[in-house]
Amino acid sequence: MPSKFRCIRCGREYEPGSIFRCECGGLLEVVHEPMKWDRHIVDSRLCPMGAPYSSGVWRYKELIHPSLAANMIVTRPEGNTNIYNRKSVSDFAGVANLTMKHEGENPTGSFKDRGMTVAISEAIRQKAKAVACASTGNTSASMAAYAAQAGLKGIVFIPEGEISYGKLSQALAYGSKVVQVPGSFDDAMRIVQEACKDLGLYLLNSINPWRIEGQKTIIFELLHQRSWEPPDWIVVPAGNLGNTSAFGKALTELVELGWIERVPRIASIQADGAAPFYNMWKSGKGSLESIKPETVATAIKIGNPVSWEKAIIVIRETDGVVEAVSDAEIMEAKAVVDASGVGCEPASAASVAGVRKLVSKGVIKADENVVCVLTGNLLKDSDATIGYHTGKLNGITPLRQNAPSRIDAASMSASLRRILSQ
Ligand code: F0G
Repeated sequence: MPSKFRCIRCGREYEPGSIFRCECGGLLEVVHEPMKWDRHIVDSRLCPMGAPYSSGVWRYKELIHPSLAANMIVTRPEGNTNIYNRKSVSDFAGVANLTMKHEGENPTGSFKDRGMTVAISEAIRQKAKAVACASTGNTSASMAAYAAQAGLKGIVFIPEGEISYGKLSQALAYGSKVVQVPGSFDDAMRIVQEACKDLGLYLLNSINPWRIEGQKTIIFELLHQRSWEPPDWIVVPAGNLGNTSAFGKALTELVELGWIERVPRIASIQADGAAPFYNMWKSGKGSLESIKPETVATAIKIGNPVSWEKAIIVIRETDGVVEAVSDAEIMEAKAVVDASGVGCEPASAASVAGVRKLVSKGVIKADENVVCVLTGNLLKDSDATIGYHTGKLNGITPLRQNAPSRIDAASMSASLRRILSQ
């Protein structure tokens, strides 16, 4: 028997529809068919283990920090992020079998929490008093939250005026000291390394290998969710190149363990205006030339990525590719991911834009199995989203604009009808 609506005042019942008040004016509530509910069903649906092993990072503890004492682990917990399949996104990208693993579902809204829980736990093991990072925003938000939880002082260095307000507000709210550096992320990265040396701060950027250990779990969890069946491609936005490096390391280890037999190809996607890794890969040169970065995707606005030497090995060993996409392509892909109800921040959408471009070049085939990693939550950068939909994002024509409308109070239903027909 399907559920019904029942009036809380007179008890009259209705088939559920779009009437939300009884004829008598009473409020309605949903009533279900009485049944004997077996609690074991609910119990079996809940992950039976408590912290730290309920974390999608520490579930794989033996593969990331085997010797760490459990009482040193600082966890929210993190991970356990979902995988989405949306026809509109597949159609846009040109691949029937496309899924998105949403790392924006981590506690502070980005994949950074996976590496941060491991590196901050190591900071505790090393009896650090203060931790520091440079950031385009997400690392600072994550570090500030974990430093607060661990009772450590946190100092973040950010490029002045270059990070989104959502991320800046997180770092301030969680209580880290925020130092604005006049210049780019790359300047902030240089300064934080000097500060750590001079002042004895523990560095929590992805140059710290413990961060990479945590970020490996994106791959462990993804393959676990797929019953250890690898896709053909894993596509990831690329900035400082920590993720690209971590993904390759994770895949190599899974092959060594015998948990997977085949390694997916990795595609790292940069923004056109911040593409030093793409330039290097395309030119076939053996070293990276830094550039002055410029892109709407501030999270990946990086001109001198720290981990390029690890990342290039990963691209070679996975028969991977590096691609670059324009800001317009990133924002269009974001509009499609957003309108599918999944949503992500601009940098994350570079992965979907990258798939579309690689399909158009014939590198990714339409019948291949592709996983895009969405790295950050939609709410991280609302300025970019609103700028796009109101047509105020510099140099970008919003092809999928959904601008807010104004209602005319004098002819309300006529103006509503007009809005709905658009
Ligand atoms: N996507 C988002 C949302 C990011 O915040 C970052 C990096 C990347 C992609 C790139 O990942 O560096 O592993 O290649 N953000 C860093 C930060 C740099 O400071 O928050 P990567």
